[in-house]
Amino acid sequence: MIDLSIGDDGIAVITWNMADRSMNVLNADSMAAFAEAVTKTIGDDAVKGVIITSAKDDFIAGADLFAMIKADDAQAIFDMCQGFHKLTRNMETCGKPFVAALPGTALGGGLEIALACHRRIAADKPNAQVGQPEVQVGLLPGGGGTQRLPRMIGARDALQVMVRGRKLSMASAKSSGIIDEVVPAEKLMEAAKTWLTDKPDASQPWDRKGYKIPGGGVWGPRAMETFVAGNAMAHAESRGNYPAVQAIMSCVYEGLLVDIDTGLRAEARWFTNLLLGPVAKNMMRSLFINMGAANKLASRPKGVPTAQYSKIGVLGAGMMGAGIAYVTAMAGLKVVLLDTDAKLAEKGKGYTEGLLAERVARFRMTSDERDKVLDLIKPTTDFADLAGCEMVIEAVFEHRDIKADVTKKAEAVIGEDAVFASNTSTLPITGLAEASARPESFIGLHFFSPVDKMPLVEIIEGEKTSDECLAKAMDYVKRIRKTPIVVNDSRGFYTSRVFGTYVREGLAMLAEGVKPALIENAGKLAGMPVGPLGMSDEVSIELMHKVAQQTKADLGDAYIAPPGEDVMSAMVEKLGRLGRKSGKGFYDYPETGRKRLWPGLADEFPLADEQPDVEDLKQRMLYVQAIETARCLEEGVLTSAADADVGSILGWGFPPYTGGTLSLVDMVGIEDFVAACDRLAQRHGDRFTPPKLLRDMADKGQRFHDDSKLAA
Ligand code: NAI
Repeated sequence: MIDLSIGDDGIAVITWNMADRSMNVLNADSMAAFAEAVTKTIGDDAVKGVIITSAKDDFIAGADLFAMIKADDAQAIFDMCQGFHKLTRNMETCGKPFVAALPGTALGGGLEIALACHRRIAADKPNAQVGQPEVQVGLLPGGGGTQRLPRMIGARDALQVMVRGRKLSMASAKSSGIIDEVVPAEKLMEAAKTWLTDKPDASQPWDRKGYKIPGGGVWGPRAMETFVAGNAMAHAESRGNYPAVQAIMSCVYEGLLVDIDTGLRAEARWFTNLLLGPVAKNMMRSLFINMGAANKLASRPKGVPTAQYSKIGVLGAGMMGAGIAYVTAMAGLKVVLLDTDAKLAEKGKGYTEGLLAERVARFRMTSDERDKVLDLIKPTTDFADLAGCEMVIEAVFEHRDIKADVTKKAEAVIGEDAVFASNTSTLPITGLAEASARPESFIGLHFFSPVDKMPLVEIIEGEKTSDECLAKAMDYVKRIRKTPIVVNDSRGFYTSRVFGTYVREGLAMLAEGVKPALIENAGKLAGMPVGPLGMSDEVSIELMHKVAQQTKADLGDAYIAPPGEDVMSAMVEKLGRLGRKSGKGFYDYPETGRKRLWPGLADEFPLADEQPDVEDLKQRMLYVQAIETARCLEEGVLTSAADADVGSILGWGFPPYTGGTLSLVDMVGIEDFVAACDRLAQRHGDRFTPPKLLRDMADKGQRFHDDSKLAA
């Protein structure tokens, strides 16, 4: 795991090499072995200097989050941090020079080990990165990063790295002063040895007499901006929902007022506090562990060989079809992009041309690479061009007859074992599959707009969809580097169905006479990316209205009007305010300047005399989504809580600090959640009545997630 060799020249090399892992990670075992090796080199008089490196392509990826999420003993966590601090302080102050030779990426605790060395030399590799991304899973750099980084590069730059969790290339890490030297990969060890034999200074700047914090620390001229304005800005972005952001700022502020050992102790306290709290566990579980499992296709049917793709058909070159063509070609696959008119098909390809032009302009792609991707996309109006496609994805108008027509035409050309996928956002897959001669190979692939940015694909199995078809669809999603979740057929599937409850809750509030600005702010304070009224404008109020009309026609007497339906009808039928596309909806969209709430809303939807507490509104907006998710699970639309959580965060931006729609229930506690829902149901109606699944869980004191069972 950790190899130690001591040469005749007195240079010891400590090499991270975890055999059973693709990347080195910090956990109890590897840390114990590393500590033993370091202690040995410090105690051995024959050792004159130490190189810390890795036998793998990368240095260390950070802490093992599978182990971290299980930590629940405050004293043990604090002691672990202090143990790490003691070890790294020994490295810094023992009098022997330590150099980190980084063959590639060094993140989190990996970078912190390097920061505790007296010099950092990195191999010149284009994809290698350094950074402190802990904040992205709700944690802070607990291995000394919050103390060493600001003492090395100044508080402001250090906070940029830690609060944003941004990763830097080796070149920019060198210009920021985090890395001392970047050398060709084959010269890495030689450069480290040269530095050691050149009689280096084996002390850290902060242990030298007369040391001054770059930029002046807490009392410097920039401190006001860094700590006062910075704190306000960070709060405006996190809205107080992400305790790690404030904890990182506190660590730096408090740490720079005192000596480094005291600062490290403060960091250990803040780290313990964060790791014991729910937010870090929620984020580790959903954004790292469960998202990782989804990306590795953990739920893919076993025994089906991996599908090999070379050519994909995309029907409909509109907004979605054009985006699907782009991500598919970027994955190196040929695309046949079909529309009813050659100009429309060409326009669809033009979307890729636009995105690639931007990439070339930003030096993220060469013009040769751009041409190769463009050559992969063939715009056409001829179904015969679909011959040889292993998969066809339709993204034509949301209309059953049109979808049935293109299904038949495509199936007449493609091979027997090709997959036919529909990107419908609302129409049940089993019904659409009736137009297919081979419904076992028919499946839903629900992309999100804009396709090039949105990371999720919701895969929908129809009643007759085969395991083989599902496995092949998952292979495609992996190939285009998106995250799949798998759900069963239902109106709106999972994502649109639950997301719709958020938007409609906002409309219901408007109908009740809640101030529009209060509604919007409550949504954002709850952590949703956009308020529900703004979201309605984005989706298009007209489209939501159409879907409601279609549902009403399909369900007949069984239709129950959702709350706020009158608001939707008034906006579309009476006021002609259809949403953002038409330039006016709940907001006005002036040609110049920012959007603003339409002042006419007050006349149309009179305000109630008494306005509710913002906390109540936030609770309604989040809980209504969690309850609908629980219904999806109860009905078998969802089959796992992990998919529910990952899908909610990646699909429509459900707040990551909650861990997702069902982790939220665990965070609140099932009994409290059910009791709160009962109260909400009394006040606002049946949509808040908890489903039986939740009541049963509350009776038994169950949770959706048991982190102690998570395994890598
Ligand atoms: P769009 O109106 O931008 O594009 C549809 C395209 O299909 C048009 O270019 C049209 O000419 C073409 N088309 C129509 N009939 C055709 C036929 N018989 N043969 C070939 N091409 C035909 O629509 P958009 O927004 O791209 O939606 C497409 C599908 O994706 C719909 O089923 C929609 O529900 C679904 N969807 C839309 C999302 C969105 O945010 N807009 C999100 C997820 C799914």
